[in-house]
Amino acid sequence: MKTEKKLHRAIVPGSFDPMTLGHLDVLRRVAALYDEIYLALLINPNKEYLFDLETRFSIAQIGCADIENVRVVHDDGMLVDLARKLGCGAIIKGVRNSTDFEYEMKMAFFNRELAPEIETLFLPCSDGLGEVSSTRVRCLLEKGDLAEAEKLLPNGAIDIIRKNRGL
Ligand code: PNS
Repeated sequence: MKTEKKLHRAIVPGSFDPMTLGHLDVLRRVAALYDEIYLALLINPNKEYLFDLETRFSIAQIGCADIENVRVVHDDGMLVDLARKLGCGAIIKGVRNSTDFEYEMKMAFFNRELAPEIETLFLPCSDGLGEVSSTRVRCLLEKGDLAEAEKLLPNGAIDIIRKNRGL
């Protein structure tokens, strides 16, 4: 039996505070699989953000500027509502380790309860990116080590950060 496939459009959600090379790796690999990708900046009420939405958005945009089938969006509502609105059949999350996996499983169960028709898919990070995280970038920035932070960020992101922090 031939059924119509739903997997041509996917959403890659997160806080992206800020986007890192780890996020970008996941995004590039997802963009190679799907026709259209939405990178969605959402609000996790349990997190306190270092960067305002505008800055997180600009960094995400500069990060995926060369990936033609990715569009950056933001929303302050529920992820599944946005996924439905954008017609996405899948939510894609990158995972680096068992801690990520445990957290993302909880999110996946939660989102599935709200929207059973949308699948969550996990993508393991590429070799060498398991230690790259937004938390690490924020830590380096707090210490004033912009040179080390830059190594974990998309090209051009450090200039946006410098401007945002008046450096
Ligand atoms: O990795 P993050 O930063 O926690 O990702 C944020 C987000 C919203 C994608 C994640 O927390 C999630 O999947 N939450 C599901 C519930 C939801 O939609 N929350 C948003 C408004 S309360």
